[in-house]
Amino acid sequence: MKDLFGKALLDYQNDNYTEDIITSTNISDEDELALPYLFRDFKEMPKLEQKALKLSKGKVLDVGCGAGSHSLYLQEKGLDVKAIDISKGAIEVARKRGVLKVELKDILNVTETFDTILLLMNGTGIFQELSEVARYLKHLKSLLNPKGQILIDSSDIKYMYEDEDGGLWIDTNANYYGELDYFLSYKNEDEAPMKWLYLDFESLEFACESVGLKCEKVMDGDHFDYLARLY
Ligand SMILES: C[S@@+](CC[C@H](N)C(=O)[O-])C[C@H]1O[C@@H](n2cnc3c(N)ncnc32)[C@H](O)[C@@H]1O
Repeated sequence: MKDLFGKALLDYQNDNYTEDIITSTNISDEDELALPYLFRDFKEMPKLEQKALKLSKGKVLDVGCGAGSHSLYLQEKGLDVKAIDISKGAIEVARKRGVLKVELKDILNVTETFDTILLLMNGTGIFQELSEVARYLKHLKSLLNPKGQILIDSSDIKYMYEDEDGGLWIDTNANYYGELDYFLSYKNEDEAPMKWLYLDFESLEFACESVGLKCEKVMDGDHFDYLARLY
């Protein structure tokens, strides 16, 4: 991984903001991911994220913290927060912004336990593919203190397969429709392709059941997205 995501965050943090990240997927064209959005404050966050922050309690783990926006908010509210990410640049930025407990770590290597585990901005993306969901959930469950909770958001992206007449062109012989190949470029460099999973609520519910987690929908977002609470 070239860590172009981290490089972009560092540029923004160091006042070298000249362009945004360009993303695309195997089913969608190029789109800009505006760097200022990754540095959003509470009032700029979508309502699902605001709700997740309001529900956070106790000792919190912010998984895939990026620039640390959610961690910073909770830390300022007096919560004990730890932020992790696999992007070196992201970790450096989160630390520079003031997140006190930050670590370069893959979620699968965490062993400490928490009262709240946050996975936000399509939190299921980190699971990469449907067949991996149960493995990640099982691990996340093992990191929960008694009465602990996992707050995670995602979207049902079925709408992305709709044609102009409202018909769906999902290939039922192909993999799960929320499994995408995700491409990212920044300043004319291409990142190695990644797998990124969007998971509809029913599939999340099903996977939770298989590992003994309760799964409730906290709220729906504005565009096929939702926030779920697992415990
Ligand atoms: C879409 S970004 C979200 C960043 C941040 N949570 C936000 O809302 O602005 C996803 C983040 O997850 C990180 N990530 C991906 N896989 C991970 C893993 N296995 N463990 C920890 N972090 C991971 C990426 O490096 C990236 O920073």
